[in-house]
Amino acid sequence: MKSVASAPGKVILFGEHFVVYGVKAILCSINKRVKVTSITTEEDSIYIKSNLGNITISRSKSLDEIKSPFLPFLYLAKTLLDKFDKKGGIEVTIESAIPSGVGLGSSSACCVAAAASISGLFTKYSKKEILKFAIEAEKTIFENTSGADCTVCTFGGIIEYDKENGSKKIDSPSNFHFVISNSNIPHSTNSVVDKVNHYKEKNELVFSSLCKEETELIKKAVQYLKESDLGSLGKILTKNQEYLEKIGVSNNKLRKMIEIANQTSYGSKITGAGLGGCIISLVNEAKLDQTLENLEHKNFECFSAKIDSKGLDTF
Ligand code: MEV
Repeated sequence: MKSVASAPGKVILFGEHFVVYGVKAILCSINKRVKVTSITTEEDSIYIKSNLGNITISRSKSLDEIKSPFLPFLYLAKTLLDKFDKKGGIEVTIESAIPSGVGLGSSSACCVAAAASISGLFTKYSKKEILKFAIEAEKTIFENTSGADCTVCTFGGIIEYDKENGSKKIDSPSNFHFVISNSNIPHSTNSVVDKVNHYKEKNELVFSSLCKEETELIKKAVQYLKESDLGSLGKILTKNQEYLEKIGVSNNKLRKMIEIANQTSYGSKITGAGLGGCIISLVNEAKLDQTLENLEHKNFECFSAKIDSKGLDTF
């Protein structure tokens, strides 16, 4: 028995970090995907294969003893085998075109595609049910996740998201062109989120006023997205970057990349946890090549991206 699923990576347009504390965020999925193939096996073991390495465990092994970036997939395989009362094991193959550990949702897309692919061996769950498993799986390595990344990787398109009310699609008539530039400084989302928590605890008043400002920015962002007002949207992307600077998730390399990208784009900011990872710029199509050239000229890795409207796909 074989089951295949694929899910897109993502960028956060507005609201990373603040979303962990209940503020709304705006995210969109991008046209870079991960594909997960699962097959049932006779042996009582779980085997995960990916371009980042492999792991095999016996089904009887407790997950509490395992320290591995593959823990979410082991969790999904074990939980779903047990839930459907199946004998034997599962082999899971992950093939990803999303750069990992740089804020583009590779881990969340893998959790979503793996939840769909593994559960697809036994049943046909709705996207909502798959999302629930994907978030549970992600929590095995990132306890405080807001769930925003898995949500956009599941439903695709542009969404507004908050922890309490979940997600709502934003319909925008625009054909957005993004330039994503990778600082190639890997980061752990978990530890950057912890660092922001530390900042919040020491600066409660500043943090709460930033949350209010971010909320106002996001109201404007929804309106500009609907009106396709890219100029105004770019300006508030850059405004959002100021808030990210204040909470301490930027660094010199990211600032340099933003400065270069801003010469030919509507606006730019860090996307995802920060302190490494990527920046995103909203660009006019006519200036796309120039923006890429300027960044490449300074030896910054970059590529263009478009919105993926499909989200999770199963085969
Ligand atoms: C990471 O892509 C986004 C953060 O806001 C964490 C989260 O939402 O779980 C930093």
